[in-house]
Amino acid sequence: METRFEVLTEEDLDSERARKILREAGDIIKAGGLVAFPTETVYGLGADALQEEPCRKIYEAKGRPSDNPLIVHIGRWEDIYPITREVPEEAKRLADAFWPGPLTMILKKSDLVPMRTTGGLDTVAVRMPSHKVARQFILESGGYIAAPSANRSGRPSPTLARYVKEDMDGRIEMILDGGQVGIGLESTIVDLTEDKPMILRPGYITREMLEQVLQKVEVDRTILDDASGQAPKAPGMKYRHYAPRADLTIIAGNEDAVVAHINEKVREAHKEGKKVGIISTERTMGRYEGDSVKNAGSRDNEETIARELFRILREFDDEDVDVIYSESFEESGIGQAIMNRLLKAAGHHIESI
Ligand code: TXA
Ligand code: MG
Repeated sequence: METRFEVLTEEDLDSERARKILREAGDIIKAGGLVAFPTETVYGLGADALQEEPCRKIYEAKGRPSDNPLIVHIGRWEDIYPITREVPEEAKRLADAFWPGPLTMILKKSDLVPMRTTGGLDTVAVRMPSHKVARQFILESGGYIAAPSANRSGRPSPTLARYVKEDMDGRIEMILDGGQVGIGLESTIVDLTEDKPMILRPGYITREMLEQVLQKVEVDRTILDDASGQAPKAPGMKYRHYAPRADLTIIAGNEDAVVAHINEKVREAHKEGKKVGIISTERTMGRYEGDSVKNAGSRDNEETIARELFRILREFDDEDVDVIYSESFEESGIGQAIMNRLLKAAGHHIESI
């Protein structure tokens, strides 16, 4: 299959060309095809959420286990009603505060949503993205787009269309290139089907932000604690995502000690002829002796780090480094989402010094 690649940014959405491309993308979806598109979090791989066969194709294109349910993306609030059995008050309040935006809510599904979409669950994950290309594309496609991140299963989620192409070229009908995404980590997932709201995946919308709208929000304890022995409530969280090809170890501790320790590790690795990648930050990057030292961003604004993390992991794959050492990040605010993804990438390999 030849994959069509079209540049389509939020700025030129009103042009005649943009409207034509979106209509054609919508037609591909209605005919059962797959279109990758930008969202504010990461690129999504879209199919008609209400048809079985296109959703099956998503799993095939990604190489994704079929028990891992898809998020249904909508473009307007009222479209939530046909796909759910009930919309609790909390969902309305959260939507008022955070939609459109990087928040996914788990609700009880209606019969309209095929089991194929929800991986056999009787709940459905719903999100209304804020990216204008995403929303226009969803509306052109009939209103319901099932979309996982547009990476091959096990690779970091794509934050640039170039990475979607790397993973999906020849497997899907079309890629919409909206430039680099704004957030860089997948949406926060909150489950509203149990007694108490619970975060199943941390993201840009933090627990503190949710608790300003809902009084108390629990966090699935498997998120940061791999040793809990429990299965995560979001089936996808049990897989070792975002794994770079090289072994990744996180080093936690005070800044000077971390720099010294990592440099020590670099020297040891060099004796064995190994190539070393390092995830550093603005302040420390000049102090490392590794072969490929990446600046993830500024600790004063961890959103910068969220945006670069997945790109850096992919670059290490391209550069064929043998081992990677990373600094550790705060486990508050967006830092919790960063650490959640980094710990997964590291297979929970963290050394505290
Ligand atoms: O930011 C995002 O959410 C991106 C963009 C494209 O919107 N999408 C995304 O999808 O990250 P994906 O498929 O990579 O991750 C979806 C996660 C998985 O961990 C899945 O197990 C969980 O959501 N999930 C989906 N439906 C669920 C349900 N009914 N109950 C519990 N977890 C669910
Ligand atoms: Mg994913």
